[in-house]
Amino acid sequence: MKFLITGAAGQLGREWVYYLQGENISYTAYSSSDLDITNRNQVFRILERDVPDVVVNCAAYTRVDDAEDQKEAAFSVNRDGVKNVADACKNFHAALIHYSTDYVFPGTAADKERYPAGYPENAETAPINVYGQSKRAGELILEECELANWLLIRVAWLCGPYETNFVKTMLRLAADRDEIGVVDDQFGSPSYTFDVVEKSLLLFRKNETGIFHVTGKGLISWADFAEAIFNKSGVETTVKRIASLQFPQKAKRPFFSYLSTGKLQQKNIDVINWSNGLDVLLARLKRINTKNS
Ligand SMILES: NC(=O)c1ccc[n+]([C@@H]2O[C@H](COP(=O)([O-])OP(=O)(O)OC[C@H]3O[C@@H](n4cnc5c(N)ncnc54)[C@H](OP(=O)(O)O)[C@@H]3O)[C@@H](O)[C@H]2O)c1
Repeated sequence: MKFLITGAAGQLGREWVYYLQGENISYTAYSSSDLDITNRNQVFRILERDVPDVVVNCAAYTRVDDAEDQKEAAFSVNRDGVKNVADACKNFHAALIHYSTDYVFPGTAADKERYPAGYPENAETAPINVYGQSKRAGELILEECELANWLLIRVAWLCGPYETNFVKTMLRLAADRDEIGVVDDQFGSPSYTFDVVEKSLLLFRKNETGIFHVTGKGLISWADFAEAIFNKSGVETTVKRIASLQFPQKAKRPFFSYLSTGKLQQKNIDVINWSNGLDVLLARLKRINTKNS
């Protein structure tokens, strides 16, 4: 079984490479400079040459606030790029694992009441920002491409040992601040890159196809998450709970980002508790820091 990873320098792409290397699984991996998924010819040429059994598309335009002013760029990668990858997979008979986001849902306070266990995979989508709209457009490509074997995995609040994410940002800021303001009115649960990779492979090996949510169990706010990060790391910085209105951002954010993992559980796949996942991540970050010091 041979894998091809796109977006291999991003946080999820790097986790995939780390995992495949550790398991001695055959793969080729490309960062954006070596494989630009918006370049259709290049996508076809590389798939023809590498003959992967599975393409894992970790490439994405993920700059949520910039996307508000760069709609074309976001759609070019998150919709048109996905189309190139899906068409090439179809042409060269490869399976496709692709990722999307909780931001395809509106995340209203009313939905928090309506879906206390989180949005199910088939809940109605209605993105409230350009990034979410571009990711939903990419989802539609997959749903309509008639590929024999595809997985569309939605994740939320993605965190891992590589690149930038909330956990690493909080720890960095805490190094020289006694108090950090964190929003307390946006709710969700983190997806951990290592868990996402393992679950993606598990679903693929079970011959599952279609949409799945892979995230942690347990609903928290960003402020709860920040407090847990500091408590578990022995950091003395305090979290000041603030409202989103006090932290204006260019793109609107959903208040409710919780994805239901009921479908995974129906397939007898264990779901990680968000707090246990954080322990694993902090332990990995500690090992990486020790190695680098
Ligand atoms: N991060 C989150 O909180 C989050 C939440 C929900 C869902 N997701 C989804 O999870 C997936 C993985 O996200 P991530 O956090 O790993 O993102 P990331 O760290 O931003 O990585 C995305 C990678 O894609 C590359 N890329 C951008 N345009 C490309 C192109 N045209 N061709 C090839 N590569 C390109 C980027 O390279 P450059 O840096 O060189 O542009 C970057 O290395 C994405 O589908 C994302 O939408 C993420």
